[in-house]
Amino acid sequence: MKYFIGIDTSTTATKALLMNESGQVLGVASNEYSYEIPQPLWSEQSPDLWWHATVESIKEVLAQTGIDATGVMGIGLTGQMHGLVLLDEKGNSLRPSILWNDQRTAAQCDKIREMLGRENLIQITGNDALTGFTAPKILWVQENEPEIWSQTRHILLPKDYVRYKLTGEFASDRAGGAGTILFDLSKRDWSPEVLSTLNIPAEYMPPTYEGTEITGTLFPEVADELGLPVNTPVFGGGGDQAASAVGTGAVRSGVVSLSLGTSGVVFATTDTPVIEPEGRLHAFCHSLPNKWHLMGVMLSAAGSLRWHRDIFAPKMDYDKLLEPAANIPAGSDGLFFLPYLTGERTPYPDPLARGAFVGLTVRHSFPHLTRAVLEGVSFGLCDSFELMKSSGLENTSQVRVTGGGARSLLWRQILADVFAAEIVTVNTTEGAAYGAALLAATGSGVFRSVEEACDATIKISSCTKPGENREVYGRIYPLYRNLYPALKNTFSKTE
Ligand code: XUL
Repeated sequence: MKYFIGIDTSTTATKALLMNESGQVLGVASNEYSYEIPQPLWSEQSPDLWWHATVESIKEVLAQTGIDATGVMGIGLTGQMHGLVLLDEKGNSLRPSILWNDQRTAAQCDKIREMLGRENLIQITGNDALTGFTAPKILWVQENEPEIWSQTRHILLPKDYVRYKLTGEFASDRAGGAGTILFDLSKRDWSPEVLSTLNIPAEYMPPTYEGTEITGTLFPEVADELGLPVNTPVFGGGGDQAASAVGTGAVRSGVVSLSLGTSGVVFATTDTPVIEPEGRLHAFCHSLPNKWHLMGVMLSAAGSLRWHRDIFAPKMDYDKLLEPAANIPAGSDGLFFLPYLTGERTPYPDPLARGAFVGLTVRHSFPHLTRAVLEGVSFGLCDSFELMKSSGLENTSQVRVTGGGARSLLWRQILADVFAAEIVTVNTTEGAAYGAALLAATGSGVFRSVEEACDATIKISSCTKPGENREVYGRIYPLYRNLYPALKNTFSKTE
């Protein structure tokens, strides 16, 4: 029997997933860690944490499943995107990684737009400069920590640091590369113009590979420590969003996926690099060869519901919280919720955007507030979906939903009514780590293509169609859309 391991270096834990060649998950092991907030708006993490958690998780999943490890034919990597890892000439990490959720670089984003021209930047990279992305973090180090910058010789992403420790190779995948905004989106490689304009030597950037390509093999000592065969190949893999899309089968144009975790991500595969002209959607390379994707990110999606539960009904079971909300009429009797509790990315790249309940009256009850939260998050996610349609995405009649929020039938029905699309769930729940393992299995020849791998392993398990409330939501969605523009100036003055 052949086996494959997917490793997900996320912000809160590193997970190792082991599957067999039929795509059956045999075991998952995970080791948690935290991140530091050394100053307001900052978010940092030591690369050592990822490496130790990787070693432990691989050992644990092998012990847990008891498989014959000589059958492990490949490792696929995925992880948090955009984080900046700086190494010196000996490959030592120079400072804690600056993470995707770090917000310190607003000034550097302005500078990048000025240096490259905003339109030119969007034209080349597919994206506007946002604080989450990698390039502004590099400029911040250039400006604020020149002694660190002068020692820098290699720039990596979090998952690629793990790759370096496993194989000794400096390498990245193209989905991750695009998320730095140092990438030429159409050419699927570093942009010489962006790198030279931002004074980043091209030789600091690693070569990039498709998700199914071999990027190196395990160091003999590492293979020995992990109990894996020497020369086990490590495949390109992909950033967590692209790998997660593979893990849910969103690999063909027209299939839209929606991840309803703390943050909410609307993701659509495209056959060519499609750009939203204002850069409001992220446009990145997909983790399968010659595919791209559009993506909208809401920062507090199911996170808004958790906040609502935690402050109004701490520890209440979600089923109990949501049950009475099903009896409230669609539109929550005129109550709206804005889900910008931690600022927003799509469609409003505004760290100062704030949450709000608008339209409260004495007749509103607690279940009204609960339903308004579900509706507000659904409207906000629909903003990304609408931007995709206006950017030319066709055939958007089905959305694959995953993540904790997807467990609620009420929420799935609201999403179907708001999006005017079928909301389906799939049989796989391990997201990015599973996608990374499928990329490794495809790369090693078990499947002929990533599409074939997904067809063989991922099945639709439920389908919720738009129902009688579609008409109400179609009518009130424009009212929701008026709220952020009306409140924007208030939000920016309350900081
Ligand atoms: C994607 C993004 C997050 C991180 C952390 O653009 O910022 O999904 O990858 O998971």
